[in-house]
Amino acid sequence: MNFSTILLNWYDANKRDFPWRNTGNPYVIWVTEVVFQQTRIEQGLPFFVRFIEAFPTVNDLAMAKEEQVLKLWQGLGYYSRARNLHFSAKHIVDNLDGNFPKTYKDLLTLKGVGPYIAAEVASVCFGEVIAAVDGNVQRVISRYFGVKEAVNQPKGEKQIKAFANEYIPHNRPGDYNQALMDFGSTMCTPRNPNCTECIFAEDCLANRKGIQTTLPVKVKKVKVRKRYFDFLLLFKNGKLAMQKRKAGDVWQGLYQPLMTESSTKTENIENIYGTGYLLSKSIRVLSHQKLFLNFWVLDELTMNEFSNVEWIKTTELNELPVPKSIEQLFSSNEFMNLY
Ligand code: ADE
Repeated sequence: MNFSTILLNWYDANKRDFPWRNTGNPYVIWVTEVVFQQTRIEQGLPFFVRFIEAFPTVNDLAMAKEEQVLKLWQGLGYYSRARNLHFSAKHIVDNLDGNFPKTYKDLLTLKGVGPYIAAEVASVCFGEVIAAVDGNVQRVISRYFGVKEAVNQPKGEKQIKAFANEYIPHNRPGDYNQALMDFGSTMCTPRNPNCTECIFAEDCLANRKGIQTTLPVKVKKVKVRKRYFDFLLLFKNGKLAMQKRKAGDVWQGLYQPLMTESSTKTENIENIYGTGYLLSKSIRVLSHQKLFLNFWVLDELTMNEFSNVEWIKTTELNELPVPKSIEQLFSSNEFMNLY
C-alpha cells in the first residue's frame, strides 16, 4: 500500500471528532484554521465554539462591530487574526455578494489567508487537490521522507510541499490533509513520537535511521525584543482612565489603562509620572517580544501627555476588549481592593 492509502485507512479508524469535521461549510473551516493555526486545540476549542455561536455565518461576522469580535477573541492572542477575519468577512459580503471564494487562488486574496489556510479550505470544502502544509504536516513528511533541509527556510519548505502534493489522492484531498494533521499531532509528535505503534514504522526513513527527534530541522528564531510597559492606574469618581491602543503595535484596538513605554526597567515612578506605588508586575512572552509589565497606582498624574483618555466606570471595565494581562489585572484581588 502506498503512503496515502495507509494514512487514510488510519484516519478512517482514528479520526478525531471535532465540531468542524463533517461540515463542508467554508466559513466554519476558515474560522477553524485561523483559530487553530496558532493555538492548541484544548486552548482554542471554547473560543471557537463561542465565536461560531456568536457569528454562525459570514454575514453575521460582517455585520458585527470590531469591538465585539475582539472581545470574543480576548485571551487567544495574535489579535490581527480576529481583525483580518472581520475585514475579510466584510469584503466577502460587500464586494463578492456574499459568495465565499472557492479556489485556492481566490482564497489567497483574502486578508489573513495564507497558503496553508487557502489549501485547507479549498481541499476540504471544494475538493481541490492541493496539500495544506502546517507544522504537523512538515514534521510527518520530513521524518517519513528524511528531509534534512530546514523546514522554515524556502528550500526545505519547497521539498516538503512537493512530497505532500506528490501523494495527495484525487478522490479525498481534504481527508488526506486532515489526516496528515491528525497523525502529526497524535502519533508523530515533536518530542516523543509513537514509533512503536506507527503505521509507517517500516518505511519511515527517520525511524529506520533512529533520527526521528532530530527532524524536522528548523533554523533558530529571530531575537526576542524586550519592552518595558508602565501602566498608570488613575481612578476618579469610580472610573478608571483608559485608552484604546493604536494601529501598528501589539494589542491593536484593545483597551488598556494609561501606559508609557520605556527602554529600561522603571524602578520608581515618583517624580516621573506623579505620586503612587507599584501594585503588581507581570511578564508576557509573545513570539518576537518579551513584555515586562508594571502596574502603578497613581494618586495624581503630573504628566499631561495622554490625549486619548476615556474614563470608564470600574463596574464596566469587563465589557471592554482588553489584552489577557489586563484582564488578569482586573480580576485580581489587589486591583479590586482599590475601589
Ligand atoms: N489544527 C489546525 N487545524 C486543524 C484541523 N482542521 N484539524 C485538527 N487540528 C487542526
